[in-house]
Amino acid sequence: MNDNHVRLTTSLPTEVIRCPEAELSLGALLRRWRGRALLTQEQLAQRTGLNVRTVRRLEHNVLQQPRITSILLLAEALELDSEERAMLAVVARGPSASPERGEPEETCPAPAAVTIPRELPADVAAFVGRKHELTALSDYQNANTATVIAIDGMAGVGKTALAVHAAHLLSSRFPDGQLFVNLHGHTRETTPVDPRDALARMLHALGIPDDRIPGHIDDRAALYRSVVADREVLIVLDNAADEDQVRPLLPAGPGCLLIVTSRRRLIGLDDTRTLSLDVLPLEEAVALFTRMVGREHVADAPAGVLTETAERCGRLPLAIHIAAVRLRARPTWGVRHLLDRLNDDRLSELTTGRHSVTAALDLSYQRLSEDQRRVYRVLGSQAGTEFGVDEAAAMQHTTVVRARRQLDQLLDVHLLQEPAPCRYRFHDLVRDHVSALLRRTPCEAARANSA
Ligand SMILES: Nc1ncnc2c1ncn2[C@@H]1O[C@H](COP(=O)(O)OP(=O)(O)OP(=O)(O)O)[C@@H](O)[C@H]1O
Ligand SMILES: [Mg+2]
Repeated sequence: MNDNHVRLTTSLPTEVIRCPEAELSLGALLRRWRGRALLTQEQLAQRTGLNVRTVRRLEHNVLQQPRITSILLLAEALELDSEERAMLAVVARGPSASPERGEPEETCPAPAAVTIPRELPADVAAFVGRKHELTALSDYQNANTATVIAIDGMAGVGKTALAVHAAHLLSSRFPDGQLFVNLHGHTRETTPVDPRDALARMLHALGIPDDRIPGHIDDRAALYRSVVADREVLIVLDNAADEDQVRPLLPAGPGCLLIVTSRRRLIGLDDTRTLSLDVLPLEEAVALFTRMVGREHVADAPAGVLTETAERCGRLPLAIHIAAVRLRARPTWGVRHLLDRLNDDRLSELTTGRHSVTAALDLSYQRLSEDQRRVYRVLGSQAGTEFGVDEAAAMQHTTVVRARRQLDQLLDVHLLQEPAPCRYRFHDLVRDHVSALLRRTPCEAARANSA
C-alpha cells in the first residue's frame, strides 16, 4: 500500500464471516476498535476528516451502509489489520451481504479493491495570476448533476497550468479522489486517445478490475457513471480534441466536478460552463517572467526592458516560459540581449528542448481541414492588423456568408481573435507562424498569394 493508493479489500474470506465478532453491528465494532486505539469520537473524527456527528451516528447504527470512502478512512485511522478491514467491509455493506441471506444482486460490479486515485500532476510551482478564473472555477457547482467546466484557449496560453492548479486547490472537496487523463488532442506524433481507452483507464483507477470492464463503449460509459454516481470525484481531462472525445467521459452524479481543457471551444457539450483563456495581462506576464528567471537575474534590467520582453513574447505563458529558460541557460546574457534576439527572429528564439511555440502552433494547424488551412494561410499573410468580414471575403474571393463561417472556424480553435464583434486579428505569434509556414513551404506561399 502506498500513500497514493489506499486499498480496502472487500472480498471476504469465509472464516472471517464466521468469526463471532462479525455478528456485531457496525457501531459496536467501531466503538470497540476506537476504544482499543484510545481515541475519543472527536479525535477519530479529526483523524479521518469525518464530521464528529457522522462518527457518532455510525457508532449508534443510525447511519446504515456508509460511504465506502468513510469506511476506508476509518480503517486507516483505527489502524485495522487486513482481517479487521475485511470484517469492517462486510459489516458496513449491511445484513444483505451475509452469505446465509445470499449476496444482493449487483447492478454494477463491486470493485475488488476500493482505490482512491490521486492522479493530479505536480502543481505549477510559480503559478501567477488567473484570479478571476480561479474564483470562477471554485464557485461553479451544480446542485443536481455533475459540474463540467471547459477551459479553452490558444496553444500555450496556460490551460493545463490553470486546470491543474485549480484541481489542487479544490482537491480536499473531493475525498473520493482525483483523476487526470491526457486525451492527447494536440500532441506531436500521438493520435488523440480513443474515449473507450480513456474510460478503461479511469475505471481501472477507480478500482474496477480489468476483467470486469465491458467491451462496448456505451457499457463502459454506463459503468463509469455508475461507479462515480455516489462518489465525490474531481476529474481533469487535459487536452481534448473535440466534443465527441469528451462526451462519453461525462459523469452524471452531483458529487463530481469535471474540468476539461482544449484548444477548441467545446460549444457542443450540453450544460458546460466555459472559460476562454486570454494571454496574460502585462503585469502578470512580467511577474511570470521574473519568477521563472529568478529575481536576482533580472535585478539590473530596466522595467521597460522587462515589459518589452513580455510583450515580445506576446504575453503568452508558453513563450514566456521558453524565453525564461533560455535566459537562465545562458549566464552571460542579460534581459536586454534576450530582447534583441527576440526582436530579430522571435520564433526561432522561442524554442528550447521539447518546448517550442512553432511546434505548438504547427499542431493546431495540422488539426485543421485542408480548406481551413488555406484560409489561415491567406488571411495570416495578407490581412492587416485588424480586419472585418468583408475584407476577409475579398482576400479569399468568396462570399461574406462563407467567409464568416470560415472565420468562426478559426475562432473556435483559437488561431484567430475577435477583439470586438465582427472585428478580427491574429495574435502576433500566430502571424509570425503563418509567415514561417509560408517560408518553409514556398508552394503554399504561392497558393496563398494567388488565392
Ligand atoms: N498562470 C501561470 N503561472 C505560471 N506558469 C504558467 C501559467 N500559465 C501557464 N504557465 C506555464 O506556461 C507553459 C504553458 O502552459 P500550459 O502547458 O498550461 O499551456 P496550454 O494552454 O495547456 O498549452 P497546450 O495548448 O499546448 O496544451 C507551461 O510551462 C506552464 O507551466
Ligand atoms: Mg495543455
